Amino acid sequence: MSEANDHRRRFMTYCTEILLAGLSLLVAIPAIGYLLAPLWKREGAEAGFIDMGRLADLPIGEWRLLALEMVHQDGWKKAKFRHSLWVRRKAASDQEVTVLSPICPHLGCPINWHPDRSQFVSPCHGGVFDAEGRYIAGPPPRSMDPIEFQVRAGRLLVRWQEFKIGVAQRVPVST
Ligand code: FES
Repeated sequence: MSEANDHRRRFMTYCTEILLAGLSLLVAIPAIGYLLAPLWKREGAEAGFIDMGRLADLPIGEWRLLALEMVHQDGWKKAKFRHSLWVRRKAASDQEVTVLSPICPHLGCPINWHPDRSQFVSPCHGGVFDAEGRYIAGPPPRSMDPIEFQVRAGRLLVRWQEFKIGVAQRVPVST
């Protein structure tokens, strides 16, 4: 009788240990994954193309200012950035899209579109660009900066990029 009880007690202890080990694993695996995940995601890993939505939702022939939000991750550090982009779908074709940075290449003011003049104007010092973003007048040292984009499955994807201001050459800077 005592031997049977002893056997049962050992069996229950064994089952309890297995159950506890299983529960520990269930808790530990996601926690370890959470802790190690940033090490595999180095800075810039999320700085790829960002989905801006369906191309068909953009009216043809009109400039639209679209907002985008980016998440930069460096190890465990995460930071959100908001930017905007001038986007125009010139025709129904996926290829006839223009995406421009709204940052003035003179000193970085946000450039506005003036449909009444068919021109982009930088309000700070009167920089003027044509409807394609080409330099016309004022202090900006170059035309508006184009932003890289792709159209995949009817969706517009952009890769945000900033450029050095105040210089004639288009020099990318890390964001
Ligand atoms: S910042 Fe645009 S003209 Fe000076």
